Amino acid sequence: MCGIIGIIGNNDAAPRLVEGLRRLEYRGYDSAGVATLVSGRIERCRAEGKLINLDHKLQLAPQAGTVGIGHTRWATHGGPTENNAHPHATDRCAVVHNGIIENYQRLKTELEAEGRVFATETDTEIIVHLVTHYLESGLAPVAATAKALKRLEGAFALALIFTDDPDLMIGARRGTPLALGYGDGEMYLASDAFALAPLTSRLCYLEDGDWVEVRHTSAVVHDANDAVVTRTVRQTAVSGALIGKDGYRHFMLKEIYEQPQVIGDTLSAFIHPSTGHISLPDLPFDLASAPRITIVACGTAYYAGLVGKYWLEQIARIPVEIDIASEFRYREAPLPAGGVALFISQSGETLDTLEALRYCKRQGQHILAIVNAPESTIAREADAVLYTLAGPEIGVASTKAFTTQLTTLACLAVALARSRNVIDQAREAALAAALREVPARAVEVLNHDERLRALAHEVAEARDVLYLGRGACYPLALEGALKLKEISYIHAEGYAAGELKHGPIALVDESVPVIVLVPSDNLFEKAVSNVQEVCARSGKVLLIADAKGVERLKDRVRWSVELPTVDPFVAPILYAIPVQLLAYHTAVLKGTDVDQPRTLAKSVTVE
Ligand code: G6P
Repeated sequence: MCGIIGIIGNNDAAPRLVEGLRRLEYRGYDSAGVATLVSGRIERCRAEGKLINLDHKLQLAPQAGTVGIGHTRWATHGGPTENNAHPHATDRCAVVHNGIIENYQRLKTELEAEGRVFATETDTEIIVHLVTHYLESGLAPVAATAKALKRLEGAFALALIFTDDPDLMIGARRGTPLALGYGDGEMYLASDAFALAPLTSRLCYLEDGDWVEVRHTSAVVHDANDAVVTRTVRQTAVSGALIGKDGYRHFMLKEIYEQPQVIGDTLSAFIHPSTGHISLPDLPFDLASAPRITIVACGTAYYAGLVGKYWLEQIARIPVEIDIASEFRYREAPLPAGGVALFISQSGETLDTLEALRYCKRQGQHILAIVNAPESTIAREADAVLYTLAGPEIGVASTKAFTTQLTTLACLAVALARSRNVIDQAREAALAAALREVPARAVEVLNHDERLRALAHEVAEARDVLYLGRGACYPLALEGALKLKEISYIHAEGYAAGELKHGPIALVDESVPVIVLVPSDNLFEKAVSNVQEVCARSGKVLLIADAKGVERLKDRVRWSVELPTVDPFVAPILYAIPVQLLAYHTAVLKGTDVDQPRTLAKSVTVE
């Protein structure tokens, strides 16, 4: 989603801003722009579409100025046009903005009544007009911005520059993250540490409600009440190296292939190398005696949580409730005393998930997070964090983050089962052994890549695709459908196979591929019956199963992919891989932008 970078520097800012924006590209965006201060004026360059368009324009007409702000925009208010691209500016100041100003219409009407003319359809433009209104009333930039900030409602991160004071950049955050970077005679602002990593490793994460006056060699942070406050400056561990595709055609494919490695890395954080015991790091609360776990997440992370619910209930015998964050945060759920709320997020910045976390904190819940991005806001605000060791995930469609989230949840379920005394040693050892085998089995699953590439031709021609699964593979059906929608733009739905007969079966005919995930588990016979129901209606079934399932159904289904036979406990981790590969190859055949699919964002920092 939108990305911000700001530099108060000593060299030409524009190329450096573009470089920073390149590191924010993974978040997803549809236009980009920069503004610099040049001889007391604001100069802007903006372009629709990818960063290369902005870069091209800047190469044709280089822009001077050592102080500037840059932005990648994911359109919310107003289409993704050059005119709506940030920075927005008056002749006195320019702004870049992540988030949404919810009361912009009211403020706009007020400012239009004074004769101010708006040039865009965005909510953001209101900010520069409001600040300019206060500048024209005689306030200096810092006071004018402080006053304007008080009038803004919504969630946002901002960076502003001013013609009246070229040694000043102001940053502000409410709800949406913003980091301050300390350089050598230079200072920076950015929406995440990744953008600043090549410039500095000294960072300060602003706290909610903070705003900051940034100058070449200093920064003064104010809290929401304008009091000057001290915030910790830390050494960041985020690497400045640009992540490459290592010879793969897309980041997504590279990340799919990294799964054996990163699942292994994640497992090794929980499994003792010699005893084979699965344990959690020390937690600052008693997880074993929690009356309930409430899981909240969005998108793919939510589907990981759904699998986690099956595991935690079946193995650790603990009641679990789960919801998507955008619904959970507003439904005023009563939460039990001593309850644990678990938030799952690759980026650690998804706004709905973060706000749900804050709700649970206010309700006295202990906060546990499963997060991939170190130093992210959710990681910092949780009471305890279990890190997925997937490494940076660049493809917008989540793959290795998902399977490492599953791996972490599986370890959590086993460790919790032991601490709740609901599992015997033999079963625990069997589950741990099954988990230890997953990296090697994942390599075997990747060997089906060619077959899945061939089958993608069948899927690429379809208008609609159904995915079916039962038990812990039901969320995999949902995830399979989501992956296909996200990157190939083919309509797909995931269903619990047993629910098919309550409606979706009416959709089945010879034009609809039905992808069915059937590991040999306790629901095998029931899943087989569901496959028969589809076949009886001329459904084109692609079966993903182990040897037993393939043997049983091979004469009925159109195609099959035979995965290794594993303990059903770990099947969801392995069955994720073929659905990822199928979506990937289908998208490649459709010629879509696999790593940055249209209108999607990697990190969703608006509601
Ligand atoms: C976006 C991404 C999805 C991701 C979801 C949750 O929609 O495109 O891939 O699953 O956000 O993101 P999170 O970073 O919280 O896991």
